[in-house]
Amino acid sequence: MRRRYEPTHTRVVRGKRIHDTMEEKLSRLERETSSTELSIERVEAEFLVPTIENFVETEQVRRLKDRVKLWIKVGYPPHVVGPTGCGKTTLALQVAKEMGRPTVWINGDEQLTTTDLIGGYSEMEAESVRDRFIHNVMLAKDRTKFTWVDNPLTLACKYGYTLVYNEFSRAKPEANNVLLSVLEERILELPTFFGEERYIKVHPDFNVIFTSNSIEYAGVHRPQDALLDRMVDIYMDYYDFDTEVKIVQAHTGISLSEAKNVVKVVRTLREKLPEPHKPGTRAEIMICQGLRVMDGYSKEDLEQIYMDVLATKIGEPKELFKKSDLVKAVLSETYGDA
Ligand SMILES: Nc1ncnc2c1ncn2[C@@H]1O[C@H](COP(=O)(O)OP(=O)(O)OP(=O)(O)O)[C@@H](O)[C@H]1O
Ligand SMILES: [Mg+2]
Repeated sequence: MRRRYEPTHTRVVRGKRIHDTMEEKLSRLERETSSTELSIERVEAEFLVPTIENFVETEQVRRLKDRVKLWIKVGYPPHVVGPTGCGKTTLALQVAKEMGRPTVWINGDEQLTTTDLIGGYSEMEAESVRDRFIHNVMLAKDRTKFTWVDNPLTLACKYGYTLVYNEFSRAKPEANNVLLSVLEERILELPTFFGEERYIKVHPDFNVIFTSNSIEYAGVHRPQDALLDRMVDIYMDYYDFDTEVKIVQAHTGISLSEAKNVVKVVRTLREKLPEPHKPGTRAEIMICQGLRVMDGYSKEDLEQIYMDVLATKIGEPKELFKKSDLVKAVLSETYGDA
């Protein structure tokens, strides 16, 4: 029997919409396919497959991807850990896509609660009945109905999706307690349910991939050991020179020689700057996008573009001057003084 998708509500995480409303999805699907039948397979194929544009796969990327897949196969969720902007999220989403199951994802942060993971009662419907069937007797009845809405972890456990839990170590450990029994006993417990419905048997196709920033990992909220013991940490660093050049080219269409220069400069700066200021692959892409739009540039333009992208993490003017001097020095080393 074909499962049908039950439209529920606008999915909102802490007050922010994270998906189209169901009406928007439905009317888009109907417009595109002129059919009104909405099977879950269609919704999954349409909305729950990550779109990763220009994924670049070099030997290094493939090896890393295979490691993530290997641990999924063995049965331990991989936890991809690496510095800011090295490609963790893209890698996790690509692996999720290749697992061949629909993907749901969540971003960890300070405010994340178990409800954000499992779901909760999102709507309350109050119904009042005033019955004057017998003219001098008034029957009043108030009924309140709650609608439960699944959030990503529950969806993944129920339907066998791949959950990408991004920025895992930013969430407070207590929000993640619910994951213990999911990983260990393959049971998801919904604490606000009663009876049998309280426990969901985790679907055999369920998988989860975690990502965390290595700088934050040991810092603010170290995940509980009981959870860390049940996953495998896969440490990654920025990709090698050639991979970064290919990524930058794939995203911006910039020439090989220009891409090489940008990657060279950024990698040199990475070595010279302290940890929180190290520019990632995203910065390289942004610089190349800026350069592409410029249609010819002077030395000053070049410096300006680099500084605009690299100055984002600076608080004080003094630091800005210091960084600007460093950028100028590295630029003239790479591009020459012309
Ligand atoms: N294999 C890849 N192919 C194509 N683009 C990639 C690849 N890896 C990373 N990128 C690009 O590099 C940039 C940074 O990647 P990503 O966002 O995955 O890094 P991250 O480590 O998750 O960053 P953050 O620490 O900020 O969360 C993105 O623009 C992404 O599109
Ligand atoms: Mg990321």
